[in-house]
Amino acid sequence: MTLAGDVLAWGLPRLRDLPWRRTRDPWAVLVSEVMLQQTQVARVIPKWHAFLDEFPTTEACAAVPLGDVLRHWQGLGYPRRARNLHGAAVTVQQLGEFPSTLDGLLALPGVGGYTARAVLAFAFESDAAVVDTNIARVYARVAGRRLTAREVQAVADDALPSGAAWEFNQCIMDLGAVLCRPSSPACGECPLRVSCAWHGHGDDPAVGSAGVSRSQARFEGSDRQARGRLMKALSGASVAVADAPAVMRCAEERSHRLVANLVAEGLVRRDGERLLLP
Ligand code: ADE
Repeated sequence: MTLAGDVLAWGLPRLRDLPWRRTRDPWAVLVSEVMLQQTQVARVIPKWHAFLDEFPTTEACAAVPLGDVLRHWQGLGYPRRARNLHGAAVTVQQLGEFPSTLDGLLALPGVGGYTARAVLAFAFESDAAVVDTNIARVYARVAGRRLTAREVQAVADDALPSGAAWEFNQCIMDLGAVLCRPSSPACGECPLRVSCAWHGHGDDPAVGSAGVSRSQARFEGSDRQARGRLMKALSGASVAVADAPAVMRCAEERSHRLVANLVAEGLVRRDGERLLLP
């Protein structure tokens, strides 16, 4: 059997029932994929429902100031993602329709090769091969060596069964998440164990291979934590510039630097001596 045949035969009967798999609405799919980039499935599920209850369409999202979108992003972290989603909603409204081509999707703010192909496959059911961290890990292990970004996309493009991109991409994602885990993979249960060059013994070829994410940096004591504290406070009320170090629980110098970055990124607005959401 082909790799796709093996993956589909294993995956279709046990496809995880995830809420974004029940829709083909490109906005709902885009929101799910952006949330899933840096946040685990279990934490995304309630946030995805709540976000779409508030902003069911690009029109609803584009109509509010970015600050409202950031308030509904609270708890997810990496708020640049919310800024980009808001920007994408505004762009779609200007275009008059949701782009349905690779180039059209790549032109949306924050949408890169992965997200564009995910929307093509999962919303439009077009023949696009998605390479996220789970899938990149599967292909590096099957190949038995580290792959470059170009190589892993080419391998994925070759493996894609035409007309079944939705199913194939979802199944191989599940295979990566459920069996071909970063550590202690379940090779004994894997439908690719015969064709896999690695099968779990010796150095893991996925480590350092293109598209395979490293474990996330420590959160405790990080800039991300301090920035998160300010974003959370600003969701409730404005903050005096002078109070920012206390709110962020860090030294004045560091606070100034982080606030300047947040302002430069368009995530915080400074109005005189007060900080606000934009
Ligand atoms: N991670 C990224 N996209 C996903 C999807 N569609 N289903 C499950 N996990 C994902």
